[in-house]
Amino acid sequence: MTLQQIEETATYLSQATQGFKPEIGIILGTGLGSLVGDIEVEYAIDYSDIPHFPVATVEFHSGKLFFGTLSGKKVICMQGRFHYYEGYSMPQVVFPVRVMKVLGVHTLLVSNAAGGLNSLYKLSDLMIIRDHISLFLPNNPLIGKNIDELGDRFPDMCDPYDPALVAMALGIAREQEIKAHAGVYVSVPGPHLETRAEYRLLRMLGADAVGMSTVPEIIAARQMNLRCFGLSVITDLGIPETLEKTDIAKIIQAAEAAEPNMTLLIREMIARL
Ligand code: HPA
Repeated sequence: MTLQQIEETATYLSQATQGFKPEIGIILGTGLGSLVGDIEVEYAIDYSDIPHFPVATVEFHSGKLFFGTLSGKKVICMQGRFHYYEGYSMPQVVFPVRVMKVLGVHTLLVSNAAGGLNSLYKLSDLMIIRDHISLFLPNNPLIGKNIDELGDRFPDMCDPYDPALVAMALGIAREQEIKAHAGVYVSVPGPHLETRAEYRLLRMLGADAVGMSTVPEIIAARQMNLRCFGLSVITDLGIPETLEKTDIAKIIQAAEAAEPNMTLLIREMIARL
């Protein structure tokens, strides 16, 4: 996808929202859409109405872009994201994040549902992402001719998740008595969940949670120098010895159980940004 397409979409959205200038971008993961209820929404636009936007195909994502105010800050919020496993290219997966940057966003907050690998994690716990492993993804959004206007050919990944935001989130979790871990997220392409042997391997490599999203968006965001924060909800436990069958309904149920905590944490963070 080209810079021209990114700019055309940004121009369309700017016109459709009468020049609304978001400062914070939010991407909500599977089963985690209810934060939208806390936003004083000014504009809600279907993905299918947005030029160059891929159309969401996973039925439990409603596919809307919201513009409004949350904790006194102007936000743009994606309810439903694009996953590589749905067949989108990596540039399509990260397209909305690039559009957010052109619209003026400086900070990106991302949530996801993830499988827990750390044996201390329980269902519906929160994990603040302090680092990630992208190496299992078969592709990368920055492959191809670099769009120099967006950022460097070889972006640094020293601190993809802003350490000050990680510390802030842990502080808020302590204050509000929300159980939250800080850990490493490893991304896999999906769409199947992992075998016992795969969960064991990922744990050995140093990951605390595994999921099918987030990392491409963070890579694209860091190339553009956005300040990033990521939050996983542990929706199933990838412990090889005690692994149980799971399915999307159980995953969504575990995500929904964590929504009040997640929502509180994000609202409070945005108030302090
Ligand atoms: N593995 C990969 N992705 C996931 C999982 C998992 O166990 N749970 C939620 N998303």
